[in-house]
Amino acid sequence: MPAKKYIAVVGGAGYIGSHMVRMLLDHGYSPVVFDNLRTGHRRFVPGGVPFVKGNLDRPTDIQRLFERYPTRAVMHFAAASIVPESVRNPLLYYHNNVSACIHLAQVMIDFKIREIVFSSTAAVYGHPKKVPIPETARLAPVNAYGHTKRMIEQILEDVAFAHHLRYVFLRYFNVAGAHPSGKIGEEHRPETHLVPNILKSLKRSKNRFFLFGDDYPTRDGTCIRDYIHVQDLCAAHLLALRHLDNKKDSDVFNLGSGKGYTVRQVIDMVEQVTGQPVQYTVKPGREGDPVKLVASSRKARDVLGWMPTHSLKDMIASAWQWEQNRSA
Ligand SMILES: NC(=O)c1ccc[n+]([C@@H]2O[C@H](COP(=O)([O-])OP(=O)(O)OC[C@H]3O[C@@H](n4cnc5c(N)ncnc54)[C@H](O)[C@@H]3O)[C@@H](O)[C@H]2O)c1
Repeated sequence: MPAKKYIAVVGGAGYIGSHMVRMLLDHGYSPVVFDNLRTGHRRFVPGGVPFVKGNLDRPTDIQRLFERYPTRAVMHFAAASIVPESVRNPLLYYHNNVSACIHLAQVMIDFKIREIVFSSTAAVYGHPKKVPIPETARLAPVNAYGHTKRMIEQILEDVAFAHHLRYVFLRYFNVAGAHPSGKIGEEHRPETHLVPNILKSLKRSKNRFFLFGDDYPTRDGTCIRDYIHVQDLCAAHLLALRHLDNKKDSDVFNLGSGKGYTVRQVIDMVEQVTGQPVQYTVKPGREGDPVKLVASSRKARDVLGWMPTHSLKDMIASAWQWEQNRSA
């Protein structure tokens, strides 16, 4: 077996990581999944893909991963990522996200693994002054989740300088949609994301959908967000991996479609795709929710050659297929 052939997908049993594993397989890479199944699902890992149950908390678990599966690059998806939970329980987030990444970086250096693609977030920008948001916007997170992601970026920047590690940070906007196979999709507990929550409300009337805020200064009073299909997101990761493999410099990219949709526009699209009316209750806007978050993804297009190809309709149609399959 040639040395260092694996791509370690850390958090590969989660929503986005499990889509990445399939895309790596489709492109001839050998993924190995490392996950503690805190929020992930063992059944999301395809048969034949090595799975190491382990916690980033424990350096010996990470050592076991790299000893058994010689690895040349890491894709780091593992995190706790629920904003309100991070506000209520910040230490969980600093521990699970920041300390864990310090362990990961240390063991990577020990094993001379020097490429990492890291899942960052639009939350590092807080309440941006300029929209669409470029990567050069001020980094000013407004909650513990966003702080942990920015801290990890900082840690990896410093480690990169000292230890010749190279990184790509991908700052995601709102990820939605599911795999075309219909076998995997979004399954968070609790679910805090818009599209799955609207779809769940269609399946069971007890899953009431709450629309938070309809008096924002937007065309219909609801918040504007930028949605990106999980398959487009994974395609960008593949390009980021190639960027590092081609010995290009460390870099950071926003990943969004560059288009903003209000919550009501998303609801309209769900009604169009499913043919069902969405019932909802309007609640007051949540404190700290920015009015509008839209990415400038020009840099990812120019430097990585990335081009998202899925529309909001595609995201909702694939998410609906998944939602129906998982209840079947
Ligand atoms: N889903 C989105 O819209 C979105 C947006 C911006 C950024 N992100 C980031 O993308 C990444 C993946 O998000 P997701 O929606 O797939 O989340 P997810 O919860 O479905 O997946 C995360 C995975 O990491 C694992 N994990 C968490 N902590 C771990 C630890 N200490 N050790 C080992 N495994 C651990 C979980 O069990 C899970 O399988 C996260 O880093 C998240 O912050 C997601």
